[in-house]
Amino acid sequence: MPDHDAEHIISELHAASLASLEQATTLDALEAVRVEALGRKGKLAEVSKSFGKLAPEERARVGKLLNTVKQDLEMRLEKRQDALASVARDARLESEWIDLTAPAPGVRPGSLHPITQVQRELEDLFVSLGFAIMDGPEVETEHYNFDALNIPADHPARDAQDTFWLKDGRLLRTHTSPVQLRALEKFGPPLKMIAPGRVFRNEEVDASHEHTFYQLEGMMVDRDVSVAHLLYFMKTLLSAIFHRDVTVRLRPGFFPFVEPGFELDIQCLICGGKGCPVCKHSGWVELLPCGLVNPAVLRHGGVDPEQWSGFAFGLGLTRLAMMRYGVDDIRLFAGGDLRFLRQF
Ligand code: PHE
Repeated sequence: MPDHDAEHIISELHAASLASLEQATTLDALEAVRVEALGRKGKLAEVSKSFGKLAPEERARVGKLLNTVKQDLEMRLEKRQDALASVARDARLESEWIDLTAPAPGVRPGSLHPITQVQRELEDLFVSLGFAIMDGPEVETEHYNFDALNIPADHPARDAQDTFWLKDGRLLRTHTSPVQLRALEKFGPPLKMIAPGRVFRNEEVDASHEHTFYQLEGMMVDRDVSVAHLLYFMKTLLSAIFHRDVTVRLRPGFFPFVEPGFELDIQCLICGGKGCPVCKHSGWVELLPCGLVNPAVLRHGGVDPEQWSGFAFGLGLTRLAMMRYGVDDIRLFAGGDLRFLRQF
């Protein structure tokens, strides 16, 4: 084989390989091109077999050409391979792309009930003021719910109209105040505690009355506790709750377990005082009955009223949540309507 034939064949092979390389659109097709041109049994290998017949100086020249062509093809194959690989990678990324920030299908994230949110916020506040958080039973005895709280037998709260009585003589607690006595008995003075919880009354249900609702009881017993202490804590409480100025008024209020007793009202935040169903068209909402702990209650709790005095308050948690979130119907809280609950 004359050397120019060899050079010609090599150039043709080079050109042909470049052409099929350009046409290869997949990595497999490209590999086939490589095997055909550069493989051990490929075209260039075949050509080099015939080198033996060439004169030594021609062999050197053709060999050099062969090497150049080999290197060129290898380099171009590699480039093409990179390009095809990145196209393949992009295609795969595109087809397998998922949005990790998208909400998962099926289960939606939940949220705390609005009353729970208000309760936790108040717990944090009172804990920061040094109050302990206490719990009491929802099924109470007549003693804790009434007698020990100085509520006489002929008090209307004892009427079957207002109280759910159990057959065994116990009852569903009508307020969280029984926890006052349980706390006094368990810990004794000095004492600062709150007791949030569920209470029950046999009420006609409407936009502002439920048979089941939440209160937060508070009590402080120490030496020389006065109305000044009560006012200080109530003011701290209200500004923390509403994050704004609310108009309040104090009225005398009667509760057998406090003396003196007060009714703390706030101007209705829903209607701004104009009158609406929540404030029973009065412009004011009873928020917080409070007063100084009646000495009779201290005595029932085993505490000497000559040595100790205290204040107590009963916050309507449910009512407070209505004020806070502008809920105009108390029945929504336990109505089970997720469209309502998902707003919080
Ligand atoms: N327990 C009373 C009620 O539910 C509220 C109250 C608590 C009043 C503490 C005064 C002091 O009506």
